[in-house]
Amino acid sequence: MKLCMIGTGYVGLVSGVCFSDLGNTVYCVDKDINKINSLNKGVVPIYEPGLEEILKKNYKQKRLFFTSNLKKAVQNSDIIFICVGTPTKKNSNSADLKYVFNVVNELKKLISSYKIIVTKSTVPVTTGDKIEKILNNLRKKKLIDVVSNPEFLREGEAIRDFTYPDRVIIGTESRKANKILKSLYMPIIKKSSRYFNTSRRGAELIKYASNSFLATKISFINELANLCEKSGVDVKDVSLGMGSDQRIGDRFLRAGPAYGGSCFPKDTRALIDIGNKFKTDLSIVKSVVASNNARKTLLLERVKSILNNKLKNKKITFLGVTFKPNTDDMREASSIPMINYLNKKNCKINYYDPSGEKIEFKNLKNVKFSTSITSACLNADLIILHTEWNDFKLLNFKKLINKSNFKIFDMRNLYDPLKMKKLNIKYFGIGR
Ligand code: UGA
Repeated sequence: MKLCMIGTGYVGLVSGVCFSDLGNTVYCVDKDINKINSLNKGVVPIYEPGLEEILKKNYKQKRLFFTSNLKKAVQNSDIIFICVGTPTKKNSNSADLKYVFNVVNELKKLISSYKIIVTKSTVPVTTGDKIEKILNNLRKKKLIDVVSNPEFLREGEAIRDFTYPDRVIIGTESRKANKILKSLYMPIIKKSSRYFNTSRRGAELIKYASNSFLATKISFINELANLCEKSGVDVKDVSLGMGSDQRIGDRFLRAGPAYGGSCFPKDTRALIDIGNKFKTDLSIVKSVVASNNARKTLLLERVKSILNNKLKNKKITFLGVTFKPNTDDMREASSIPMINYLNKKNCKINYYDPSGEKIEFKNLKNVKFSTSITSACLNADLIILHTEWNDFKLLNFKKLINKSNFKIFDMRNLYDPLKMKKLNIKYFGIGR
């Protein structure tokens, strides 16, 4: 099939590259000409393991094209995927749909034969209805169907998530569109994933419900971790014990710092806003957002108490600063408020992250990027294991640190507290 992906951000690029790998011809369109030029040279603007190889392969085979010419891409395609960003609006919780509607208004002028228009961007319930209204003339002439097909890719695992999805959700009341999209997804549905055809509004809500539920699971275990710390229980045992109940499931029950990234914080806030618009109080989601915000302060309190409330001039090393491993993404990373606070308190901070130096910390006077784990740790009073990159899972701290009384705050519970005790290392985990 011939596909047009509008927006070469995370969702558009990964989906476009993966669809081309299934044998489709894919036009990836972006207004940003520099980005398109780089992509045409094989330079991938995001950090996603495996993406570059698949991109180069399909580009060479002339199935994958990068262009700023929307008109040509639309006219050459059967299905048009809208993959532009829907960030949080300034001073509000609601999703900003201006990029989506800009695209739709452009499409209005370009379509003259039947196309399926699919929103892959995360959009509030009724956005599909609004798109259809803008394109009403085309709809009346049966030149379009508007479909919601939310994306469930995790950063760092996106290729795998695309190839082996748990489910593919197609929100449409059009049998024609459903049939075409089912055949597009057929090669990956065969691999044991479920294909659901729902109403368009249903598909839009499923995306927010899924992300908000996962955020709820994380916040739940994070709050239980607080209780575990006070009651002498290891939260890992609780996760394992409760997660073994198949009705609960053990994934997304890892306690840690506040969840971050470009999705959970934005989508939980947007779901609250959607609830308000429909006069429905989503009190659980509201508590999750509040709990996650409170967690940032709570872990800083923990850092203070580990350092006996003496922060000034303490040498603190952050291992990992991204919101999760295998990405260079810093959006809503809990390291940002933590490092900013500790910088203000005149701690001397070194950080190392396998994805490199971060612009967020460039102008902070007490914060330095180290180019290796070794140089970052050398003189540390406290090591904070913030992100669970594989690089940090088998460290010999006694060899790395030049002091005898250093402390470790393992925010991802990567190490065994008993082994640390045997090594005489002052070790603090989360919920244990
Ligand atoms: C999330 C969802 O997992 C994807 O299904 C969804 O498609 C995506 O948002 C999106 O809406 O586009 P992502 O933000 O890439 O994916 O990352 P996750 O792996 O979900 O992690 C989010 C945050 O939760 C991270 O800060 C991570 O450290 C934290 N987390 C995750 C935990 O603290 N504990 C866990 O057990 C799992």
